[in-house]
Amino acid sequence: MTEENKPLFDQQSLQNLTFKNRYIVAPMTRVSAANNGIANERMKQYYERYAKGGFSAIISEGVYPDEQFSQGYHNQPGLANEDQRDAWKPIVRGVHQHGTLFIAQLMHAGAQSQGNPNANDNIAPSPVSPKNDKISFYGGQGPFPTPREMTHEDMEDVKQSFARSAKLAKEAGFDGVEIHGANGYLLDQFITDYFNQRQDQYGGTTINRIRYVLEVVKEVRKVVGHDYMVGIRISQGKASDGEHRWALGEADAETIFGELGNSPLDYIHVTDQSGFGKGSMSMAEAAKKFSGLPIIANGQLQDSKKAASLIEQQQADFISLGTSALQNPDAPNRLQHGYELDSFDFHSIMLPQAEIKDHELKKEIIK
Ligand SMILES: Cc1cc2nc3c(=O)[nH]c(=O)nc-3n(C[C@H](O)[C@H](O)[C@H](O)COP(=O)(O)O)c2cc1C
Repeated sequence: MTEENKPLFDQQSLQNLTFKNRYIVAPMTRVSAANNGIANERMKQYYERYAKGGFSAIISEGVYPDEQFSQGYHNQPGLANEDQRDAWKPIVRGVHQHGTLFIAQLMHAGAQSQGNPNANDNIAPSPVSPKNDKISFYGGQGPFPTPREMTHEDMEDVKQSFARSAKLAKEAGFDGVEIHGANGYLLDQFITDYFNQRQDQYGGTTINRIRYVLEVVKEVRKVVGHDYMVGIRISQGKASDGEHRWALGEADAETIFGELGNSPLDYIHVTDQSGFGKGSMSMAEAAKKFSGLPIIANGQLQDSKKAASLIEQQQADFISLGTSALQNPDAPNRLQHGYELDSFDFHSIMLPQAEIKDHELKKEIIK
């Protein structure tokens, strides 16, 4: 360990859990489950590499919470029924064996669904289809269909499905759940001005657009109890629209992060280092300032000096790695030994489809 990256390797507690360092694996969809959303041995091997590689915690790929409209991609794993719950149990145990925590990310794809075998139409806050085409490395082709506007009954169903799924995650042994409120999926569609054209109390002002997300958080908390980790992921950009920024900039950040800070959450996870224009705060800084909650920062943080400076300046409490963890499942161990990280090879990992590759599972993990 170098003097510079020391802040990344101290122990940290959150909720009633101890993290052995500040490094967390960011959630990454790898579409490697069975057709019915059952997680498998291959995924166990995949996740265990990160645990052996020194990460203090792993956030799972986005997992779908119900069998109606939530599934985003073919071969995405679910936590929507007891069989799916039971399939996660050995994977969670495998990760725990190496002293690493495991958090399940619960994701409803909404209008960005491109692989829901259980439903013919997508649901969303309003009948607005995502910008850009479906993602080809997740098996998509052509434009997204126009989704159906959710009724209040749909909203209640989805809220209950997040809560039920959180309970299944807890029963599977996961240490917590992360509600996916980012990247243009259903909950982010509620937050986003152009996706959400609703005329009721869930549309219009920013405070109205965050309302449903807060209701989901409360429902999840009610089911898992006060002593279980519940976080949320928030972003400006979307899988279907990477450049999107909140129209009111820091004022929106104040409303959104302020409201989340008053809700029963344990942390906020932001997805990138974007801010609100020149000279503004970053998302992580804004999340910290306006919510007062512990923050996981993410986005091109493979440079440990940069990551350490976010911790030292108290702009973040944890660092999550996405693509650099895909390439270096042992990134924390490497950095602790003073080794360089390999740069992300998009082609060999993500193409032609994003499923877990044999060469990833065979790669030596530095202890
Ligand atoms: C293959 C892949 C799959 C992803 N799937 C998810 C996901 O399921 N949920 C999510 O919140 N973000 C997902 N992301 C975004 C990452 O969590 C992360 O925010 C992004 O890669 C930026 O971090 P990085 O610069 O460290 O890669 C995915 C990214 C990649 C590369």
